[in-house]
Amino acid sequence: MINRKELIEKYLKFFESKKHKVIPSASLIPENDPTVLFTTAGMHPLVPYLLGEKHPLGKRLVNVQKCIRTTDINEVGDETHHTFFEMLGNWSLGDYWKEDAIKYTFDFHTKILKIPLEKYAVSCFAGDEDAPKDDESAKIWESLGISKGRIKFLPKKDNWWGPAGNAGPCGPDTEQFYWTSKAKPPKDFNPEDKRWVEIANDVLMQYTKDEKGNYNEAKQKNVDFGGGVERTLAVLNGLDDNYLTEVWKPIINEIEKLSKKDYTKHKEKMRIIADHIKASVFIIADGIQPSNTGQGYVLRRLIRRCVRLGKFLALKNFAYKVAEPVFEIYNDYKELKKNKNKILETLKLEEEKFNETIEKGIKIFEKLTKNKKELSGKEAFLLYQSYGFPIELIEEEVKNRKIKIDKKDFFEELKKHQELSRTATKGKFVAGLSDNSKQSTKYHTATHMLHKALKLILGSEVQQMGSNITPERLRFDFNFPRKLTDEEIKKIGDLVNREIKKNHKVTYKEMPYKEAIKTGALSYFREKYPEIVKVYSVGDFSKEICTGPHVKNTSELGKFKITKEESSSAGVRRIKAVLG
Ligand code: ALA
Repeated sequence: MINRKELIEKYLKFFESKKHKVIPSASLIPENDPTVLFTTAGMHPLVPYLLGEKHPLGKRLVNVQKCIRTTDINEVGDETHHTFFEMLGNWSLGDYWKEDAIKYTFDFHTKILKIPLEKYAVSCFAGDEDAPKDDESAKIWESLGISKGRIKFLPKKDNWWGPAGNAGPCGPDTEQFYWTSKAKPPKDFNPEDKRWVEIANDVLMQYTKDEKGNYNEAKQKNVDFGGGVERTLAVLNGLDDNYLTEVWKPIINEIEKLSKKDYTKHKEKMRIIADHIKASVFIIADGIQPSNTGQGYVLRRLIRRCVRLGKFLALKNFAYKVAEPVFEIYNDYKELKKNKNKILETLKLEEEKFNETIEKGIKIFEKLTKNKKELSGKEAFLLYQSYGFPIELIEEEVKNRKIKIDKKDFFEELKKHQELSRTATKGKFVAGLSDNSKQSTKYHTATHMLHKALKLILGSEVQQMGSNITPERLRFDFNFPRKLTDEEIKKIGDLVNREIKKNHKVTYKEMPYKEAIKTGALSYFREKYPEIVKVYSVGDFSKEICTGPHVKNTSELGKFKITKEESSSAGVRRIKAVLG
């Protein structure tokens, strides 16, 4: 038996003994990376360092990273997939390579966690036109005592990882599997057999994928190990269902208690509810509120799906109650403790809002079916479309009230609507984007000007620590040890405005990254830069590496105004500004 905290401690200790430095878990919301909504792996916040930036703590890092993956959402409900999970991660940033990486992994699994060899198997990359077969890793595994039959070569779809977005570091991986069944482990490893569960992998980051889709040999070879906390816990404790481990069981128990129903009879629904509530708790803790866009929309969908599924278990006003055990399980996350009231309040409110929508729908449903025992497809569709009444609930109501429904007609209506809405969404998306991007483009250029002004007024040691742009404002984080004076704020604002009024042309040149840095172009240390970069110049005022887009002339910007200056975190200040 091993519990979560022991597992994490053993992991960190082992890699510390191999000279790795422990780094904290980053936020679930990636800073300054618009290509992904959530942090999906431990490597994600480390991309600049995987691309060659120097990490202040050195070339060997280790941590436990909280992650959200929505790509697996349709698989949530089975034994092993989760929206929120924790990942054990260790990295070699251009330091050790395959041999040590595989040895460390093997020792951690078999010596520290004491996984018996007869329950252990691995896979390696089979090779294709982008990269050769990874015989080297297979040989290392063999030298450690893994038999040939327990080493399988698999194609890119299984044994390749990354990049996290469209471009960036990636490479073949070698994965480790655990035999979870009580049956005797077979001599050979069959990756198709679900009783072999993947518990971890080593990504051998040897390539950088560029925007055009080419895989280029990376300048720096990295190792990126990732291990699932939930899966490892389950297998080490002899459980074939992650939801029976201590990181899920208390949540499942709470659902059982509230619904007075048995987990064994409602596994899928209870798993999804537990999963979505846990993910919601962590997303809210990182500052997101339910909304109709971006991360907020994902959060809203997660909560509403729970509420909907809850109906089948006769659960009401339950989301915030189901959340309660999450705080106990993860009492080592300060952000949960600190934001507990807000998190519970948000869950409660969102559930209430959704219930109101549903109640309205039921009233309409009753009106439509008054004095008759059938619901036409068009009527059902009206409920769905105009009153936001979920299809599953329509079916449920119809069943309970023994009402006939013309399903064929309903689905025809639905199909017609979906085709219409697909076209409409496309239109809206394009319109929305061009509209947003016009405003955002202005803020983008203004951000460059602010960055330069900060350096000129406060000192060249000022560095960008983060930036976020919406069509309404810009936000800029930078290192500075104290609150800015009113005079400094005025000076910065005046300088930006003076430069805007010079009607500077905004132009760009493409050049190798190294050359760009030599020309004195500003850069952002957490950004992942490709080999060839664009350097944007705002007249002779600012020069900065950036992918754009930007306005053509600063005359398009209007008046710049700093609306807020505040602390963001220790040693980091945050400025918000608008253009009017
Ligand atoms: N980045 C690798 C993963 O997510 C380790 O599995």
